[in-house]
Amino acid sequence: MNEPILTLHDISMYFPGIKALDGVKLAVRPGEVHALIGENGAGKSTLVKIMTGVYRPTEGVINYLGEDVSFKSPQDAQRVGIAVIHQETSMFGDLTVAENIFMGHMPRARQARERTLFNPVSWTGMYGRAKALLARLGMTIDPRTLVKDLSTAERHLVEIAKALSREAKVLIMDEPTSALTIRETEELLVLVRKLRDEGVAIVFISHKFEELFEIADRYTVLRDGRYIGEGSMKDAKEGELVKMMVGRSIDQLFPKAEAEIGEVALRATGLSQSGVFRDVGFEVRKGEILGFFGLVGAGRSEVMRALIGVDRLDGGEIELGGETVRFRNPGESMRKGIAYVPEDRQGQGAVLTMSIANNITLPQIDGLSNRGFLDAGKERSVAEEYARMLEVKAAGIQYDVQTLSGGNQQKVVLAKWLASNPSILILDEPTKGIDVATKSAVHAIVSELARQGLAVIMVSSELPEIIGMTDRVVVMHEGVVSDRFERKDYHEEDIMRAAMGSERVAAGEKR
Ligand SMILES: Nc1ncnc2c1ncn2[C@@H]1O[C@H](COP(=O)(O)OP(=O)(O)OP(=O)(O)O)[C@@H](O)[C@H]1O
Ligand SMILES: [Mg+2]
Repeated sequence: MNEPILTLHDISMYFPGIKALDGVKLAVRPGEVHALIGENGAGKSTLVKIMTGVYRPTEGVINYLGEDVSFKSPQDAQRVGIAVIHQETSMFGDLTVAENIFMGHMPRARQARERTLFNPVSWTGMYGRAKALLARLGMTIDPRTLVKDLSTAERHLVEIAKALSREAKVLIMDEPTSALTIRETEELLVLVRKLRDEGVAIVFISHKFEELFEIADRYTVLRDGRYIGEGSMKDAKEGELVKMMVGRSIDQLFPKAEAEIGEVALRATGLSQSGVFRDVGFEVRKGEILGFFGLVGAGRSEVMRALIGVDRLDGGEIELGGETVRFRNPGESMRKGIAYVPEDRQGQGAVLTMSIANNITLPQIDGLSNRGFLDAGKERSVAEEYARMLEVKAAGIQYDVQTLSGGNQQKVVLAKWLASNPSILILDEPTKGIDVATKSAVHAIVSELARQGLAVIMVSSELPEIIGMTDRVVVMHEGVVSDRFERKDYHEEDIMRAAMGSERVAAGEKR
């Protein structure tokens, strides 16, 4: 085996009220993909930030290329060849793709006619190189596109291009696939393998085991900020890794309970938004979990957002409990008992600079107030109940959401909507970025809510989740419903094929 290129010894990191890392070690070698595994809040992203100069560790030593180093800033680490794709994207929406990629190291203009005193950058050079980099990633997007006009998946790919725009010896990827679909993930893994074969050392974080087994050569497991163990991926068993992560074996992943299916809670017909989706119709009954499956960009989230009044609806009808409705803003649908848990927790889900308690009780602030004054005791007990139910890992519910790990932020968003007591619950990728143990807890909660008569719509790009949890599934492809399936007819290949846009072979009850 090669000598490690990057080694961390005895790393500890303290935050107010919490010891995020406690004596952790990690050794990464050139030409290997090293999986960093652990539950939400185990300390993975914190370790990444230490390796990349975002944080300086409270204790411990970093050795890089045979020397002890101390990075004073992220630029320090970047300059010596450590590139990173952080869990939460950090790009500038109002700049172009190319500008984001070359931020901080724009190609210099060589020809005098391109160079001016105030503008030494070679724009043609920059756009050309951006285009080449994107092509290497199999992307055809125009480098002049503004980042805010990209989809989540495209943004992630641009982040990778950005990381690769410098000659990286170490590439750290913190949940790079959490926003990608199966096909996009495959493309990314091809790229990761290629970089590994070129000798790059890769640290790869993911909560998806199939992916880790497919791509990783070695692994290191963290639990509660501590080093638990490491080994070769090909000798590892999933059950053992889970046990190392969680400290116990976990229950069933998709504990779908039998629920009595009641009357139609919501019916939509002919929903359209020009250029985005058209003629989408479905109904969801009390006690039912209706799945929405498709590839990223199929239009599922867009349908939900238009349904609840975030975005406009150009056509179609919505019936809620027998009454025809049309929501002009999300406040209206919320008051009618529809809760929508968005996919993008940072942008739409949580107020990062507010406490966990305030976030959880935000949608029911009226119910918790008495003549305009918030009942703090009541707020606290509601927030505590839900934070406990979803096992939000935090030093206390009075802390800001931004101090939580990515997965725990997601749990707060879920808690907030569950606490609002809705009659229809729309979940957009509810377990994205959530670790195995919590995933199973989330599934159990959703299943129990359905049993109690809640109507649930679950948008998910994870086929096992759709198959495991839903009663019926609507499959979308490029803005239209391509097929529908009942639980008794679920076949992975059929659903996948419908998502890719091909017709079902046998004649079904297609509408
Ligand atoms: N800036 C901060 N201030 C206070 N606490 C923090 C801060 N950053 C992280 N923490 C805490 O450190 C612990 C580890 O968080 P970290 O983000 O490293 O977890 P993670 O393993 O990446 O989890 P996930 O899988 O959810 O992304 C968590 O308890 C988190 O609340
Ligand atoms: Mg993280």
